[in-house]
Amino acid sequence: ADHQDLQGLRVVVTAGGTREALDPVRFLGNRSSGKQGIAIAEAAAARGAEVVLVAGAIDIPPPDHPRIDTRRIESALELQDEMAGLLTDADVVVMAAAVADFRPREVATSKIKKTHQQDPAHAPDESAPVIELVRNPDILAGLVRDRARSGVDRPYIVGFAAETGDAEHTVLELGQDKLRRKGCDLLVVNQVGVGVTFGQDDNTVTILRRDGGEPVTTGPTTKAHVSHTLLDVIATDLRR
Ligand code: C5P
Repeated sequence: ADHQDLQGLRVVVTAGGTREALDPVRFLGNRSSGKQGIAIAEAAAARGAEVVLVAGAIDIPPPDHPRIDTRRIESALELQDEMAGLLTDADVVVMAAAVADFRPREVATSKIKKTHQQDPAHAPDESAPVIELVRNPDILAGLVRDRARSGVDRPYIVGFAAETGDAEHTVLELGQDKLRRKGCDLLVVNQVGVGVTFGQDDNTVTILRRDGGEPVTTGPTTKAHVSHTLLDVIATDLRR
């Protein structure tokens, strides 16, 4: 996992969390720090790839590397737009961003007030507002669909899954399910919760392969090491 084995490859990595606006000052967000996605971008650039890093909300500064072109996005819809322009040139897409599944149906044009007086004849409404959500597009599934339509086998597409497991299913069972549903080539599964993985420097992941190959587990280890292990799997597949 060194040298310039990714030289000439165009790698797109998404990182961080999306923010879905409620009004000009508020948003729905998530705990993604962006550290794993940024580590992948850095590792790929170190191995010679030309990297586009599409970053949402991140807790660390974006990397400063001549082969990393960082584009900032805020919402899932902005991320989708950015990806549409990058897909045709990419050899590899790694969707490490935590994309909101839902967004508020409406974005208020001015700050939502604690009390809203709709009808001056009545007392101000002291009730709490109800926020209606609508589904965001599944960008990863969309990339897989667009690739199938194009008839080309590029880009190689990697998804991430942050799973907690539940009473009936292990994290890995949920991961296998998600891999089949999304149709990507690899799914990187990690176990999350408050203080676990999100924002941390270490990670434990299992890389599941659509082709039925043996899963690869690594960690607990640094997000840099996880990145190189992931890139090893990708590089091996691309050489076949
Ligand atoms: O379905 P879930 O959110 O768990 O899937 C996670 C994977 O799907 C990640 O790779 C994430 O970047 C991607 N995703 C997406 N668009 C969404 C939700 C998730 O591309 N709306």
